[in-house]
Amino acid sequence: MAIVTGGASGIGEATCRRLVAEGATVVIADIDGERAASVAAELGRAASAVQFDAADVTSIESLVLCTIERFGHLDVLHNNAALTSPALHAKDTNAIDIGFDTWDLIFAANVRGYLAGCKYALPTMIRQGSGAIVNTASTGAFSGDITRMAYTVSKAAIIGLTRQIATHHGKQGIRCNAVAPGLVMSPGARAAVPDVIQVMQRHLLTPEIGEPDDLAALVCFLASEEARYINGQTYIADGGMLAHNPAMADLVDLAAHR
Ligand SMILES: NC(=O)c1ccc[n+]([C@@H]2O[C@H](COP(=O)([O-])OP(=O)(O)OC[C@H]3O[C@@H](n4cnc5c(N)ncnc54)[C@H](O)[C@@H]3O)[C@@H](O)[C@H]2O)c1
Repeated sequence: MAIVTGGASGIGEATCRRLVAEGATVVIADIDGERAASVAAELGRAASAVQFDAADVTSIESLVLCTIERFGHLDVLHNNAALTSPALHAKDTNAIDIGFDTWDLIFAANVRGYLAGCKYALPTMIRQGSGAIVNTASTGAFSGDITRMAYTVSKAAIIGLTRQIATHHGKQGIRCNAVAPGLVMSPGARAAVPDVIQVMQRHLLTPEIGEPDDLAALVCFLASEEARYINGQTYIADGGMLAHNPAMADLVDLAAHR
């Protein structure tokens, strides 16, 4: 039994599809209830949809507790929802220009929302003696970005949250790990960075840009028993973007013209 937040689109949707393909029952939780219901309808009896808002702790409490009441247990929580709208990103600039309302909203959904998911899931997981939490961070947590002050800092916070949950509850059978995607071709990313894609591709160490399925594979592995000896870790899936000298693409061009 798994809850996937932000499960109606992109990485979350791909994770729901893969979990169901691997035999799990999934609650697709999303602010877009209609889209979540349509993905659930496609996936059949193993999936159901719940509308919730990651920025609203009451709705997270109700999502988690109602799921536990309905199914009697909870094996996997994939905290993945984040505010990805281009309009919000446009206001999420730098330390001088960002409004505190923008900062607070992004932190409410991207950080407090993940904490709340853990807060309400953990008592049941601890009672069970097992549970896997997988949080979606971002490579933005590891490198500076020319904009997106709050988003980037919120994703760095997720890495700390992940280690804290693992440290506090690992001995009780809880594993908490994070995935850090680089650019992945989800609908959210396509809308947010349409003209950035070619620039980014130049710097990848892979022929293709990542797809939501690439992250779903990693999330499902971390959620599975096969990952039983992995706790408190963050796994980067970014096509090698952070693995090389930042000047690599320019150096390749330079070498080609010699
Ligand atoms: N795609 C990328 O390039 C990329 C890179 C790094 C990190 N990420 C992270 O991956 C995760 C998924 O992103 P994606 O690219 O698949 O995005 P997406 O926009 O395709 O999907 C995000 C989903 O979250 C839902 N959502 C948004 N606000 C919500 C809220 N307040 N409450 C509940 N649900 C809400 C949306 O309705 C949507 O279905 C996010 O945490 C994002 O920060 C994505």
